[in-house]
Amino acid sequence: MKIQTSAPGKLMLLGEHAVVYGYPCLVTAVDNRLYVSAELHKKKEDEIVAPQVKESNFVKETLRVFKSKYHILDNLKIETQSEFSHTVGFGSSSAVTVATLKALSILLDISLSSKEIFDLSYEVVLAIQSVGSGFDVAIADYGHTLYFTGGGKEIRPLKNDEMHLVVGYSGTKADTPTLVKKVSALRKEKKEEVDGIFDSIGKLVGQATECIQIKKWEELGKLMTQNHTLLQSLDVSTDRLDSMVHTAVEAGAYGAKLSGAGGGDCMIALVHEDKREAVEKAIESVGGEVIRVKTNAEGVRIESGE
Ligand code: MEV
Repeated sequence: MKIQTSAPGKLMLLGEHAVVYGYPCLVTAVDNRLYVSAELHKKKEDEIVAPQVKESNFVKETLRVFKSKYHILDNLKIETQSEFSHTVGFGSSSAVTVATLKALSILLDISLSSKEIFDLSYEVVLAIQSVGSGFDVAIADYGHTLYFTGGGKEIRPLKNDEMHLVVGYSGTKADTPTLVKKVSALRKEKKEEVDGIFDSIGKLVGQATECIQIKKWEELGKLMTQNHTLLQSLDVSTDRLDSMVHTAVEAGAYGAKLSGAGGGDCMIALVHEDKREAVEKAIESVGGEVIRVKTNAEGVRIESGE
């Protein structure tokens, strides 16, 4: 029997970096998915077929954690396939981890709740990169749009079916652990100032949560742009991201910000559909690459083989 599962990519809406220190964030799942298939095989070792070495490392660690927890002696063949490149910051590591765990649980008939998948996946991610809030694991697992607090203390799904985002890739791959460590070093140096920035980001997330629930898009856009300014003061933005954000707002977006760790990857702009084209063109005019996505996508699911 071969089981195929898939998990979605993600975009951070508000709250990055502060979430590492226990503050809340808002994150949405995108309709670009990562697929994993799992089957038992008779070889002496596990076999992992993944286009990226990074993905393959996460699958390896997932197998190690899962096998030791459930005392599995069988060997498996795991294959991965992604609809998005690992360079854009959509969270391929967490998606591959969550999708692998789901596939293993179905194949080996071990029932796992969403929270159990979260806990195991978070353990895998921390074992490999040692830092991270776990928000990317939660969204790959639960999907849709989440209010999430660091470490998964609160994982609350929000109703959010009409949010229109334009996504611009800056052309540079960012390394999340490096940026998280950079912010941590800044906090050691200027604790009061950085904690003040985190407090302000936390407040924006609270207000933004309400805006999403009552569909106050204009207000939400303003909060996103304010969040970008706060991220600039944490020194995680880049000139390219700044100009993409600036031009998107000039072109009529409700608001815009970098999304994720910063240092590259993507920015997002919240738009009315009427302004989409103008905002996309503006982002391209400053060197950004537009990636078309739908937000609020389904979390990890079984694709075939059950
Ligand atoms: C990275 O996409 C978001 C950060 O907040 C790190 C994390 O939450 O794990 C910078």
